[in-house]
Amino acid sequence: MNGIPEIGQTVLNFIGGKWEPSASDKWTDRYDPADQSILVARAPDSTGHDARRAIEAASQAAAEWSAVAAPKRGRLLFEWLNWMDAHKDELANLLTREEGKILPESIGEVKRSMDILEFTAGMGRRLAGRVFPAEEDGVFCYSTSQPLGVVGLISPWNFPVAIPVWKLAPALVAGNTAVLKPSPLTPLTATAIVRGLEEAGLPAGVVNLVHGDSAPGIELISNETVKGVSFTGSTKVGKMIARDGGERMLKLQLELGGKNPQIVLDDADLDLAVNGVVAGGFGSTGQRCTATSRAIVTERIYDDFMSRLVSRASSMRVGPGIESGVEMGPLVDSRAMNGVAHYVGVGVKEGGRLCAGGGQMKEGGLERGHFFAPTVIEAKQGMEITREEVFGPLVAVIRVQDLEEGLNIANSVRYGLSSTIFTRDVSKVFSFAERAQAGLLHVNRPGVGGFSHVPFGGIKDSGHGGREVGDEVMSFYTETKVGYVNYK
Ligand code: UN1
Repeated sequence: MNGIPEIGQTVLNFIGGKWEPSASDKWTDRYDPADQSILVARAPDSTGHDARRAIEAASQAAAEWSAVAAPKRGRLLFEWLNWMDAHKDELANLLTREEGKILPESIGEVKRSMDILEFTAGMGRRLAGRVFPAEEDGVFCYSTSQPLGVVGLISPWNFPVAIPVWKLAPALVAGNTAVLKPSPLTPLTATAIVRGLEEAGLPAGVVNLVHGDSAPGIELISNETVKGVSFTGSTKVGKMIARDGGERMLKLQLELGGKNPQIVLDDADLDLAVNGVVAGGFGSTGQRCTATSRAIVTERIYDDFMSRLVSRASSMRVGPGIESGVEMGPLVDSRAMNGVAHYVGVGVKEGGRLCAGGGQMKEGGLERGHFFAPTVIEAKQGMEITREEVFGPLVAVIRVQDLEEGLNIANSVRYGLSSTIFTRDVSKVFSFAERAQAGLLHVNRPGVGGFSHVPFGGIKDSGHGGREVGDEVMSFYTETKVGYVNYK
């Protein structure tokens, strides 16, 4: 296979440096979420056997790769970055056609991936150990960071370029070899980025790609050769992985769901706050773990805020992400569509007031894709849509008296990923910062996104096993080895 894959292409697994089909000879088709008549990719529906072979290839490559000097491992990432820079437009285009997000979001995601590569490649020169003061005379005590060996990386469809990159880059620079199991909904982008690694000079077996659904993933969790698994996806699957992996003491990093609140207080800049909900709730069609799915708004400004939000939501231009001027793309597939429709139904049944959107959009060619109108529901605390992750463009708005009530509601869910506040009152900002139960806080800015060199992740049911991105991620991809040397 040469260059970047094209729309409609049949893609393959990449095992031990060779592109090959699954031994099952079964395939899964992926259609354009904006137009179901267009085949985007056909990918192998791999089995546990394919995953075992990939793990074996990664295991065989492990000793040699970990012996490559760390700055040289970093060099591979710089080459990968150069490749991505040269192909960034094609990559963004593929991303939009396969996943559905609007082109500016895809361009942003590719840019973010490049920034992550830039930061992580440099880590090849910063993987330092430590020297400790001796407690006994004549003993030199130090620590170094060791790679784990083979790691399994299970990535989702909603950031199909950035998330594999932010898992693969630190895994590689630390000296691990990897098996990547991307979501079956985005095989084309996964293939493209692994192609990039190959063209950057990746030695055979260091990164292996196995397409498919749960069978290869289950193998990664249960196979004793795999020493660590980093997973991004739902809390439900994350808990299954934690249970099964825990059985064999598998090192895990789990990046899971969210039910992220945005609190808006009386003194907030309302335009800014409405922008926050629009960007956080409807950006990426609400399909991100950091999505703002609850707006918690104080009494005095509530009506004003609500009417501005409803008018913005109702006038958003929804359409194929590839068209210029479109503000929100389709949902990823019909399952996602049914999921969001289900929550709208439950929300209304429980007494919520539907203020904008609420259903599939079928006008002007949109019936060919999975388009759902940006939805705003006035909700009462405790309703299902104020507790459960929807993963779509649905914002539940909850009226509160003050910061105290807002914070209690914000913290009442089982998730703790991102939490946002809009206020100009510095003492309220800091009391929010102190009490909000979340791994990420945003003040007067949307609750999504993050810098490419800063740790990312959540608490409670949103995450487990340490942060991704930034320098903290290295504590997952390495083990500390301590040495005591008696030199007397
Ligand atoms: C972001 O908010 O920009 O799956 C990134 C997700 C997250 C990534 C979100 N792991 O949505």
